[in-house]
Amino acid sequence: MFFTLPFLRRLNFHRRSQFDENFKQFERGEWGRYGSDKKGQSLLHLAIIENRLEQFKELIASGFSKKKVNAWGMLPADLARFLGRKSFIPFLEPKRSLPLITIYRNRDGQKYEIPIKEFEEKLKIEYIESLEFKYPDTLTWAVDKSKKQLRKQNIRKMNRWTLALHQKSILSSRGDHVYVRYIDQAIGYGVFANQDLPALTYVGEYTGIVKRRSLKRIDSNDYVFGYMAGSKNTPFVIDAAKKGNFTRFINHSHAPNMSSRWVVLNGVTRIIVFTNRPVSEGSQLTYDYGKYYWRKRATPFLI
Ligand SMILES: C[S@@+](CC[C@H](N)C(=O)[O-])C[C@H]1O[C@@H](n2cnc3c(N)ncnc32)[C@H](O)[C@@H]1O
Repeated sequence: MFFTLPFLRRLNFHRRSQFDENFKQFERGEWGRYGSDKKGQSLLHLAIIENRLEQFKELIASGFSKKKVNAWGMLPADLARFLGRKSFIPFLEPKRSLPLITIYRNRDGQKYEIPIKEFEEKLKIEYIESLEFKYPDTLTWAVDKSKKQLRKQNIRKMNRWTLALHQKSILSSRGDHVYVRYIDQAIGYGVFANQDLPALTYVGEYTGIVKRRSLKRIDSNDYVFGYMAGSKNTPFVIDAAKKGNFTRFINHSHAPNMSSRWVVLNGVTRIIVFTNRPVSEGSQLTYDYGKYYWRKRATPFLI
């Protein structure tokens, strides 16, 4: 019988379990509770990578540290988010209240703040605050590539500047500075400034599922953008068709009031958007999707 690689990956058949091996070593007392393996993963991190919830709960109950970062600089909670392992998160951090989303109702011209759950139901998407990697291997690959890029001095410097400007905002994932509004049938929704935004204001991170770019472009949809590792293009894309945040509703302009940029934070390259000039309250926020996006699509409207 023939099994495809993604199928084997899903079943995790193609390799022996690193978690099992390390756990045995741990039980034999070969490395301590706070130890990591050669690749810098603690047992907690490995349990998340291999989706071993039962064993993970045992480790938590026996006092394994939730605050220890792995070699990539990721807390177990960060790793669980990057891998979409939602059932692990309640054991790792207290329940956070998610930001409300502001939407504009054309019917009465009023803005409403609604909980994320309602937004998800209304717009038929799952709201994710950070990138999610389809497979652990994709995350490993992306982290390694970003790390290699950061060895270059100019890349490291650029990254430092971007972090100096935006790190706090990226981590706080605020939502009150913009609102989502339905425009018309041709364009759909768009994102607008909810207050005057000075130049260089961080607006958001483009979140979605990081997965391999399809050669046949079967799964290429309106919400797919190239994924970078540091400043380099990769064979991966961020697909926000089913999972994403408000940034998936930002429309394109040839003269945009926002710019997009890569930044490496917690070992992972993210794509962020920020204003490139002052934007007044009520203006639509736009960025340039790039020429490839429109190659096989109808000419965009001027926004
Ligand atoms: C990432 S989505 C943006 C959000 C989209 N308006 C929605 O409601 O889901 C990209 C799609 O929005 C529409 N769009 C974005 N900018 C546009 C523009 N300047 N002119 C026409 N359509 C645009 C196109 O259908 C495009 O494929």
